[in-house]
Amino acid sequence: MKLTLKIWRQTGRKDKGRFVSYAMDDVNAEMSMLECLDVLNESLIERGEEPVAFEHDCREGICGSCGFMINGIPHGPLPATTVCQLTMRHFKDGEELVIEPWRAAAFPAVKDLVVDRRSFDRIIAAGGYISVSTGNAPDGNAILVSKDTSDRAMDAAACIGCGACVAACPNASSALFTGAKIAHLSILPQGAPERDGRALNMVAQMNAEGFGGCTNIGECTGACPKEIQLEVIATMNRDFIRGSWKRRDQEVRTVKPMTEWSTGSKLKIDPHATS
Ligand code: SF4
Ligand code: FES
Repeated sequence: MKLTLKIWRQTGRKDKGRFVSYAMDDVNAEMSMLECLDVLNESLIERGEEPVAFEHDCREGICGSCGFMINGIPHGPLPATTVCQLTMRHFKDGEELVIEPWRAAAFPAVKDLVVDRRSFDRIIAAGGYISVSTGNAPDGNAILVSKDTSDRAMDAAACIGCGACVAACPNASSALFTGAKIAHLSILPQGAPERDGRALNMVAQMNAEGFGGCTNIGECTGACPKEIQLEVIATMNRDFIRGSWKRRDQEVRTVKPMTEWSTGSKLKIDPHATS
């Protein structure tokens, strides 16, 4: 099949960037989107041109490395599918695909389709863990978890941290990602002891990174390749309000983001804030 790939090219953060069109005459319909870019890159290298930079690792939809916009849709037109799983047969012969990176202030451009998503890592580092005592492994049945509870936790834990939710949101909010990383722990009894501080610290870091607020538009869940549901944002807000009240006299420390709009590293808890 023939395709035209109109790809965003940007040499670095200071470059303004521009679209460049590449005509491809012999695209195998069974190739994935990333394999199509591999083929394009081979031809670019043969011609002595700079290959297109894009992120990838597992190429089976589990690592969260890949991701870019195709015709304005994060990860392309197929629901619940990452670009590494998206095969070219889902496009029409002769179609033009406009391919561009996630666009969000908290995801600064690196090169071409690669953006810096370390803000996600800092949100997780702010509280996305459970502190455990070392020693013998506890008995497997010592803490009973109902099927419904474990299902909800596992659904939230399916988040691969790709960033499509941020790219889809008109506010560039990371509420779905942060909510998933909070909910998959706080839903379980093992995550309950650190529940208040976890929500406070992770939401504070999310705000410090410059992500926008959630206004319940829902584009995030539609774009999510793991179909994370808005319920996780409700869990985040509930934990945050509870924690804000219980720890209203404490300061929350955040790690300074890499971004220039960072206002400092200390935020005072506002017990009336919801996110
Ligand atoms: S919530 Fe979905 S879209 Fe957002 S980072 Fe997680 S897997 Fe990606
Ligand atoms: S490369 Fe791992 S999810 Fe796409």
